[in-house]
Amino acid sequence: MTSTATVIRYNRIAIILHWTIAIIILALIPVGLTMEDAPKAIQGTVYQMHKSFGLMVLFLSLARLGWRLVNPPPPLPDSMAAWEKRAAIITHWAFYVLIIALPLSGWMLVSSSPKNIPTMFLTLFHWPHIWFLAQLDVAQKKALAALFDKTHVLLAYGAIVLIVLHVGAALRHQYILKDNEMARMIPRLGNTVPPQRKPRGALLILGLPALLFVLIAVLGNVPGKAAPAAELDGQASGNWLVDPQASALQFTFTHAGRTITGHFARWQAAIDFDPQDLAHAAVTVKVDLGSASTGEKTYDEAMPQADWFDAAAHPVATFTSTAISAKGSGHYVMDGKLALRGASAPLAIPFTLAINGDQAAAQGAAHVDRLAYGIGANADAAAQYVGRMVQVRFNLTARRAPPA
Ligand code: HEM
Ligand code: HEM
Repeated sequence: MTSTATVIRYNRIAIILHWTIAIIILALIPVGLTMEDAPKAIQGTVYQMHKSFGLMVLFLSLARLGWRLVNPPPPLPDSMAAWEKRAAIITHWAFYVLIIALPLSGWMLVSSSPKNIPTMFLTLFHWPHIWFLAQLDVAQKKALAALFDKTHVLLAYGAIVLIVLHVGAALRHQYILKDNEMARMIPRLGNTVPPQRKPRGALLILGLPALLFVLIAVLGNVPGKAAPAAELDGQASGNWLVDPQASALQFTFTHAGRTITGHFARWQAAIDFDPQDLAHAAVTVKVDLGSASTGEKTYDEAMPQADWFDAAAHPVATFTSTAISAKGSGHYVMDGKLALRGASAPLAIPFTLAINGDQAAAQGAAHVDRLAYGIGANADAAAQYVGRMVQVRFNLTARRAPPA
């Protein structure tokens, strides 16, 4: 049953923003509370959707706040008691604080998390972390992520309380007081008249948050500054000269259920190899760790950091062979040591080799245990997010060096 009282309704933009934001928040709360227990197969997607829609709320709420400040709502009806008006005003402003602070705390939480999981906005494009949080060291990140996590949860519970009060008040007006108050936000429910003041500034108020959104998305995808090239000391030597244009050194790892492939842009190999004289074969490969790139900014910025490659302290990784043995029909295994990030561990690299006159082509792959070198040992020692084994592959073309 509805009342016949005529009330002044909110303007159209206020109504659209109220319901869009309300529907998203009402969906995000149960999703947020249950996503930790979501089936593994879809959990990554659920988190990404939670973050994407949460970020939408953030920018819609900025637009809404701007709209509210320039276009005040219709005055509360005189039929409302003074205490009730006060309660409504407090609840409404608390909501404005919340619909901005809640998603912001989520963004701060993922930006400072040492797990460093990138946000893919609706799976369409990479949404950046808040840059100054993402650059902190692991210990600071851990402390802040814990704080923002608590804040996010607390604000979410705050939202639940406010929603219960708010919806309770709306229903009380609709079904107990029957004063048609709810029609202010749902004009179909009863008789309403539009606000006396014409809404203004729509283009600017709605455009600014949209512009801010686009600006952050674009800036967040500008490739980072390349690290200064590390000294790979000395010329490539040996009886084979690698053709860098026709060779590649790649790596593949898993992160939060995704497989990511990258490559090292700068590396150098000194190769002494004669299939007839394996006893004297020797290979040394030096890799500029700062030249690692995946094409995804979040990883490219994280890899050189202290907890990962620690490229500032140990800019170069070196593989030195100790023995190469033939396994038949162009197959070999190269045993050696990989010195990386201040640690050294044995590594066996199976490879195939085809020599055609003065040209040689070789392909090989090895699995490197990142924890053997302390890579990511602080952020993810249990390999919960970043797979422990990293595959390193090479594809090499070389020509025979002219006799000295
Ligand atoms: C997460 C969910 C929600 C949020 C964050 C929210 C937030 C708000 C805010 C901030 C206002 C005040 C607008 C202003 O003064 O500019 C408002 C008004 C209103 N909301 Fe919601 N709301 C939510 C859900 C709902 C639901 C589910 C209902 C319906 C049962 C509802 C009904 C109303 C009504 C009727 C008004 C107008 C109150 C008046 O007479 O001024 N809201 N809401
Ligand atoms: C209005 C928007 C949002 C609402 C209503 C919301 C709600 C929630 C809720 C209820 C939880 C569960 C809390 C718990 O009990 O552990 C949660 C967790 C989480 N939210 Fe949000 N959220 C919002 C926006 C965001 C945004 C924008 C991000 C990131 C960009 C985000 C990232 C997360 C993450 C990563 C968790 C998991 C925290 C953990 O497991 O420790 N949220 N959210």
